[in-house]
Amino acid sequence: MLHALFAVAFWAMLPAYVPNNAAVLAGGGAPIDGGRMVGGRRLLGDGKTWRGTAVGTAAGVGLALVLNQAAPAAAAATGVTLPAFPLPAAFGLAFGAMAGDISASFLKRRTGRERGAAFPVVDQLDFVAGAVACAALLDFGWVVDTFTLPVLGVVIVLTPVLHVATNGIAYTLGLKDEPY
Ligand code: CTP
Ligand code: MG
Repeated sequence: MLHALFAVAFWAMLPAYVPNNAAVLAGGGAPIDGGRMVGGRRLLGDGKTWRGTAVGTAAGVGLALVLNQAAPAAAAATGVTLPAFPLPAAFGLAFGAMAGDISASFLKRRTGRERGAAFPVVDQLDFVAGAVACAALLDFGWVVDTFTLPVLGVVIVLTPVLHVATNGIAYTLGLKDEPY
């Protein structure tokens, strides 16, 4: 029972997990805010770029399409019925994850946090909120069917654990400047 909840939660969120990591690898280039300042601080900062956002979104959508192909085999192996991703849901999860992370940077700058500063809880869940909200805007029925309350509960508990672990690995490998 519980393993099915974890499997569905992890599977359904994969297209939202990958964009941030892809953005770290692809980041650089022109910042989205074009250097604009608000109240003496950057609107978003140099850590949010057009290239990172585009590559991150594409990576999430691409992964969703791969998962759609792999679903039957994964379902057979785990005995769990895993959700398929309609294109609007896939795009919503991937782009929403990036948008959530960008919104968090906006909040960080408004609260005096410099680029790279930690913002506990927000850092770990901004992209979950963005992904689920954006997917719901584009395919509400899919989100309601997929993210039942128990699945959503597992997502909220599981995501920070995975986030801390993957960012710790990325930091250790020298891919990321901070371990969060
Ligand atoms: N990145 C990007 N575009 C995005 C998100 C991330 O290019 N939309 C890249 C940037 O190179 C960024 C790195 O991924 O520095 C790490 O992302 P993140 O930790 O979210 O950014 P920070 O640099 O820590 O900046 P902030 O304080 O605004 O979160
Ligand atoms: Mg950071």
